[in-house]
Amino acid sequence: MTTIGIIGAGHIGSQVARKAVELGYDVVISNSRGPETLAELVAELGAHARAATPAEAAAAGDFAVVTVPLRSYRDIPVEPLAGKIVIDTNNYYWERDGRIPELDKGEATTSGLLQKHLPTSKVAKGFNHIMAREIGSDGTPAGTVNRRALATASDYPEAAELVAKLYDEFGFDTVNIGTLDESWRVERDRPAYVVRQNAAELTANLAKATRTI
Ligand SMILES: NC(=O)c1ccc[n+]([C@@H]2O[C@H](COP(=O)([O-])OP(=O)(O)OC[C@H]3O[C@@H](n4cnc5c(N)ncnc54)[C@H](OP(=O)(O)O)[C@@H]3O)[C@@H](O)[C@H]2O)c1
Repeated sequence: MTTIGIIGAGHIGSQVARKAVELGYDVVISNSRGPETLAELVAELGAHARAATPAEAAAAGDFAVVTVPLRSYRDIPVEPLAGKIVIDTNNYYWERDGRIPELDKGEATTSGLLQKHLPTSKVAKGFNHIMAREIGSDGTPAGTVNRRALATASDYPEAAELVAKLYDEFGFDTVNIGTLDESWRVERDRPAYVVRQNAAELTANLAKATRTI
């Protein structure tokens, strides 16, 4: 049995947890306010889910999903994620997160910031350009005509491969952008951001993206 440690239990964290449990994963899910505040969600998720602190969720996961507001990325525990693949859903909303000069200047990427914070983990971008509610509703079996595709990027091929496997199980094709340096192509306000697209359309939208908006 594979366990996913989930840090963040809001719109995205809870949807990833629901679909993962449906697919047969165990999940350990966490938020900032403490496991007791997740009692209702874990009761809904059933026997394959439990609530924990972020450090416990990170330690329990064979791999992890980080899905907190970007402003909180420095709170993600480093040590318990060492050696693990970490899927990063984060986007930069300066209105919510405050200004982050490296991102404003186009000198960094959101997932690159998390990779720097987690130097011993293998960060891969995932689920950042799909609305939370569509994670459980938009998936279709492999081979479906016009299947929706999602992008990933990582400096570690094995991390991008894990995201592709998970996307396929969730019902999505994958387009691998390449390294995190290129992951701005699927960040907020680019052509590929939160629109429904198949793999060919996603590839075209990624190519169309410009660094400055
Ligand atoms: N919503 C979407 O459709 C969507 C789609 C794609 C990507 N995203 C991106 O994914 C990320 C998460 O989005 P969301 O909509 O799921 O956010 P959300 O609904 O606001 O949930 C955020 C979660 O993160 C937790 N959290 C905040 N600070 C934390 C910390 N320091 N340590 C541990 N947990 C912490 C919160 O816990 P508490 O409630 O206890 O504070 C909450 O469970 C964001 O970067 C967002 O831009 C969102």
